[in-house]
Amino acid sequence: MSFSKILLSRSALQYNIKVISSLAGSKRIIFPVKANAYGHGLEEIVRMSASMVDCFMTATLEEAVKVRQFAPENDIFIDLPLINVDDIREAIERGFVINIATTYQLHLLEKLPHDILKGVRVQIEFDTGMNRTGFKYEDLKTVNTFFSRHPEIKVEGVFTHYATGLDYPESLRSQYKLFRKILSRIQFRYSFIHSENSAGLLAFNFSDMDYIRPGITLYGLRPSALYSISLRPVLSWKSQVVDVKSVKKGEGISYGLTFRAERDIKIATVPVGYGDGYPRSLSNKGYVIIRGKRVKIIGTICMNHLMVNVSEIEGVSVGDEVVILGEAGNDTITADEIANLAGTINYEITTRISPFIPRIIVET
Ligand SMILES: Cc1ncc(COP(=O)(O)O)c(C=O)c1O
Repeated sequence: MSFSKILLSRSALQYNIKVISSLAGSKRIIFPVKANAYGHGLEEIVRMSASMVDCFMTATLEEAVKVRQFAPENDIFIDLPLINVDDIREAIERGFVINIATTYQLHLLEKLPHDILKGVRVQIEFDTGMNRTGFKYEDLKTVNTFFSRHPEIKVEGVFTHYATGLDYPESLRSQYKLFRKILSRIQFRYSFIHSENSAGLLAFNFSDMDYIRPGITLYGLRPSALYSISLRPVLSWKSQVVDVKSVKKGEGISYGLTFRAERDIKIATVPVGYGDGYPRSLSNKGYVIIRGKRVKIIGTICMNHLMVNVSEIEGVSVGDEVVILGEAGNDTITADEIANLAGTINYEITTRISPFIPRIIVET
């Protein structure tokens, strides 16, 4: 039996999908489930949401293969531009939709025989300011020429990905305008367009898009504190006490003895560490909840252990539940709180959670 578990709330996921869908109106959902569904657990998230979203977006071919196992009916879009002919062939054979975003890929496609190309389903990405992947406005001539010469390739979507949201709304507007300008100059057929991630949707909710690609909001978290939407976090993380011991005044705790007891204290050892994806930078800073009370992490966080000061709690014993992330009684430890303490973003906190911790779906 595992010491820790990740609980995934079905009702929270359904609630978030409904809230975001109603905000988006007629726009349909491409659900980003890359990086093990933002660390939540790909299988469980895909199984729970398959009937509520149109398409899943993965980063890689390997992820797409896994999604297909649990979502036989949905479209699956691979966002990273594949740069290997064998990968492209495999994606085509499996019926995935691939992102064509670079001139390098156009050369690769040229090498594929016509009968294979006939089966390709693609979306074309244009870069409107992110400078990550996607053709530039200046590439339009090349892209137009290529796809006009290859009507056998099925261009399903054309899309862009915004670099900003409410943090820099003028830039978001100008990226959107550039996307519209690009669309007005496209000379080949395509079926739909999309551009908004969670921040883009919450910031402007552009009415002329066919799809949205909300990731973090469907997991019940906000892209940043700039957005006031109320959602329900899908994930909570629980563990249990494996040892309780007394530490005498003056003794140190954990590697480097970075914590010294100023008086006699009682500590509990929790089998969670940076090997499980809990940030080591929360050493001597973070909190967990035991028996409804917040207790502080003391000493350096190890690969598979952290220690907390439980002097103020009566009767802590081996096997007691430890809430690492989530609600307990009247208190909650959020991914945002952990992220703030760790100097990162909520995305990274959930995404880093080890895939080896069992995922359990709860209905509430
Ligand atoms: C291309 C693309 N679309 C959509 C998303 C989802 O973004 P968010 O989770 O901020 O909604 C991502 C996430 O990184 C992405 O890379």
